[in-house]
Amino acid sequence: MSAASLPLAGQHVVLGVSGGIAAYKAVELLRRLMDLGAEVTPVLTASALEFVGAPTFRALSGRDPLTDLFRADEPIPHTRLGQGADLILVAPATANLLAKFAAGIADDALTTTLVATSAPVVLAAAMHTEMWLHPAVTANVATIRSRGFRVIDPERGRLAGGDIGYGRLAEPEVVIEAVLEELGTTRKPLLGRYVLVTAGGTREAIDPVRYIGNRSSGKQGIAVAQEAARLGATGALVTTVATPAIQGFEVVAVESALEMRDAVMGRLEQVDALVMCAAVADFRPAEVADQKIKRDSGIPEVKLVANPDILSEATGALRRSRPEAVVVGFAAETVDALRHGEEKLARKGVDIMVVNDVTEVGAGFGSDTNSVWLIARDGARSRIELAAKREVAAALLEKAFALEGEPRGQTRAN
Ligand code: C5P
Repeated sequence: MSAASLPLAGQHVVLGVSGGIAAYKAVELLRRLMDLGAEVTPVLTASALEFVGAPTFRALSGRDPLTDLFRADEPIPHTRLGQGADLILVAPATANLLAKFAAGIADDALTTTLVATSAPVVLAAAMHTEMWLHPAVTANVATIRSRGFRVIDPERGRLAGGDIGYGRLAEPEVVIEAVLEELGTTRKPLLGRYVLVTAGGTREAIDPVRYIGNRSSGKQGIAVAQEAARLGATGALVTTVATPAIQGFEVVAVESALEMRDAVMGRLEQVDALVMCAAVADFRPAEVADQKIKRDSGIPEVKLVANPDILSEATGALRRSRPEAVVVGFAAETVDALRHGEEKLARKGVDIMVVNDVTEVGAGFGSDTNSVWLIARDGARSRIELAAKREVAAALLEKAFALEGEPRGQTRAN
């Protein structure tokens, strides 16, 4: 791509960095903004400088970061910067920075620039969970949003000091996407496409209270639906776990494999891509007791019967009705992951098999990250090493839609 055709060519972005542990992540955001063609001027608060050094930002941006209103070589750098910016991104935005911006306080280079601009402002919040949940922070965020500025919620994950909770700076893709959206340059490559995704582990009832289940959290499937929506697709998410609304997606709540099959098979008509992330139980109790089985009636024997293989069934149906549609399966393995994944790809006739060894640290069930192999129907393999599930989703959607127009080899189609 020539420099002029980059999405942010000719755009001047002020990157504000306030003082949180996530300040180091601003370096990656700076790099990505520059890769997209933007000119970036970093503005660092005094406390940001306790976490990161101005030379890193200078080296990467090719500009002197503004860190101090009074030591800059011109008298009113903040008004010049504020007026000249096409957008101001603050990442991380701490509780303190949000409070100041909500109140219009202008007491350093960053806050004065923020008050001196009429450009769009995007603030990616990051702080400890308790701070994010504090009513003062909630009220400040509401005030900022009511004025038309965009605050990106923090995500759940590991925080400073080893705690886990909401507060982590959103992933770089999410922040950059918000910047692109604000500047009206978002790419929507999946506009007009319909993506059907399944998520979560099925629950196979034994009686009205008990079920046979598995450890799938549904996070990877939800991430695929969210990512597809972000790229412009519509579709449905058939899920066994509670899911927040996803723009352009129908969220279909199911429990058992049989319910999931009905929901999937009933929605194949317009499918361009089917992504079967769900962990479908291979077996279900042959009979479901009407009443709770009582302890004093002895140890029950639960006879199991096989569940339908939704993926094979749906793939077969799609090959007949919509041969262009791409199908992605998931294989959660505990030994010899690649070999089993390759076998499964062939057996199920899918276009891509996402294989993960769920015994790896930070991969698989419940985790926010994943390490996977993507095996394509032509045998090509690619590895994604410990990435956010959202990033895995982006990579697999890109691969899936790249295969869409390509002829399918005789051996693998069924
Ligand atoms: O054979 P295995 O269960 O490991 O295959 C995993 C893939 O097959 C996943 O994509 C899963 O959603 C799908 N599957 C299915 N129906 C089943 C079992 C698995 O669709 N009964």
